Amino acid sequence: MNRAVNSISLNIAEGSAKSSNKAFDYHLEIAVGSTFEVVGGSFLALDRGYITQQEQQALYDEGERLGKSIMPFAIHSANHQPSAISHMPKVLILGAGGHAQVVADILMRAHEAGSNCEPIGFLDDNPPLTETVILGLPVLGAIAQLDEFDHGAVIVAIGDNRTRARLFESVRARGEEVVNAVHPAAVLAPDVCLGQGVMICAGVVVNTGTVIGDNVILNTGCTVDHHNHVGNHAQFAPGVHLGGDVTIGEGTVVGIGASVISQRTIGAWSAVGAGSVVTKDIPAHATAVGMPARVIQ
Ligand SMILES: CC(C)(COP(=O)(O)OP(=O)(O)OC[C@H]1O[C@@H](n2cnc3c(N)ncnc32)[C@H](O)[C@@H]1OP(=O)(O)O)[C@@H](O)C(=O)NCCC(=O)NCCS
Repeated sequence: MNRAVNSISLNIAEGSAKSSNKAFDYHLEIAVGSTFEVVGGSFLALDRGYITQQEQQALYDEGERLGKSIMPFAIHSANHQPSAISHMPKVLILGAGGHAQVVADILMRAHEAGSNCEPIGFLDDNPPLTETVILGLPVLGAIAQLDEFDHGAVIVAIGDNRTRARLFESVRARGEEVVNAVHPAAVLAPDVCLGQGVMICAGVVVNTGTVIGDNVILNTGCTVDHHNHVGNHAQFAPGVHLGGDVTIGEGTVVGIGASVISQRTIGAWSAVGAGSVVTKDIPAHATAVGMPARVIQ
């Protein structure tokens, strides 16, 4: 346990002296691995009666807090590696519709601002789009042709939540690296925890302690305040505002201009109507509209 505890801080210290973010990320990953080792060791110590259940729970909670604090640095540096010294994943954008074009624009703006990810083209299942050029990037073929094109990573850029969720899970199961598209004009607190395949548009603000799941869309000008939890595959339309300590379930859509007051929960795969104000919890698989929002389906 002592060795693993020392390894957490020593790896952060060693990584901080590296000349590239990739090398720093490597050490941050070891630090998180050592945190897991300590938590694993605490279960063994509990089994053997060396510590109480309460002490084990405290170690577990502290390990979770530490892991969540270290990982955003790795994510942040992966998003901001200077191209000259980093590996540069060539990113294929899955989808070429309006939403995908915004994703492409964000990736290009982020690349100009120093991100290591370079968008190289779109794949889309709409045949008339094939071999066209959008925003200077070619539509190379259908999504099923993914393996035919040299690439290092993908991002799923389809607006519909269920379709995006299915494709995201299938590409990840195939071992694809799924990158985030974070506009340089978004403002994220340093401890915000981002999943994979997240799209964050210009003007978005995400405050401290918030956890954003995989494959989430935060559209233009959203504000997501402190200590929120946004489930995988959720989507906020432009101009959505969340108070603090809000929980949004997996796959839920919050319509354009809607607001959710603090400490409310919206269940999975629900929809909140455009312009609505959520003042009470909304269950899963529900549609709620109006001010205050009422469940209509
Ligand atoms: C809430 C929503 C999902 C409901 O869609 P739907 O299931 O097709 O429902 P309908 O359009 O049939 O509307 C059902 C009822 O709710 C009302 N309604 C729909 N959306 C509403 C809204 N945002 N605010 C208030 N009432 C609304 C309709 O007027 C209708 O009322 P009625 O039965 O008295 O005629 C949809 O209206 C919506 O607001 N989607 C958000 C879209 C968005 O923000 N897109 C941005 C993409 S970037």
